[in-house]
Amino acid sequence: MRKPFIAANWKMNKTAGETRAFLDEFLPLVRDVQDVDIVIAPPFTSLPAAAALIKGSNVLLSAQDIFYEDKGAYTGEISPVMLTDVGCTQVIIGHSERRQYFKESDEIVNKKIKAARKHNLDVIFCIGEALEEREAGKTFDVLKREVEEGLKDVPSDSIVVAYEPVWAIGTGKTATTGQAQEAHKYIRERLSALYGGAAQDIRILYGGSVTPENIDSLMDCADVDGALVGGASLKAGSFARIVKFNCK
Ligand code: PGA
Repeated sequence: MRKPFIAANWKMNKTAGETRAFLDEFLPLVRDVQDVDIVIAPPFTSLPAAAALIKGSNVLLSAQDIFYEDKGAYTGEISPVMLTDVGCTQVIIGHSERRQYFKESDEIVNKKIKAARKHNLDVIFCIGEALEEREAGKTFDVLKREVEEGLKDVPSDSIVVAYEPVWAIGTGKTATTGQAQEAHKYIRERLSALYGGAAQDIRILYGGSVTPENIDSLMDCADVDGALVGGASLKAGSFARIVKFNCK
């Protein structure tokens, strides 16, 4: 059985003060949830405030990105050592916004995943096709390339894959459950080709305009094991409802 995994990607939102206010409201709402891995990914500057508040709780801390060297002359970058030092146990790697705006290639994504694993950070590895790629019938080709290049020489343990069709991110256009399941099933087949039976244990999250309204039907899909949530994770009540999917 794959334990559901629900993660909040706050992107460039929430100061340390806003992070504290969110957690003051959110932690009591999910205190009794035991059967779901709950993760929040605040911006770097809010990680220490979040770490202090979630200590001893059932919420795990993630960063939104990482650099692949431990230290050195890389102005503006944050290393795996710095993330574990502030209490992160997870990191999002390869988000489509990083690939699109910061030109991160599959090769860079792969280096970042290896660096994270070297320091025992669990990885939320993002993949997904753009609208033009879907319309050109290239969805599976893109997913195959991203899985194979991103996970090259990476062991399967401690990897969670997030399928986020780029056209569904922040647009209010969610993939249908049919589209999500089709992509997730294909991704699991690619993972099986890489890892054999261990692919059955890898959680595959759906991301892209997930809301309290559509989470239940998404979670009903056989190969959807959780969600990576942007906009709807910024309000404590809304994210708590997503964490408590199928609790009517
Ligand atoms: P969204 O973002 O839920 O706002 O579409 C998801 C993501 O980019 O991880």
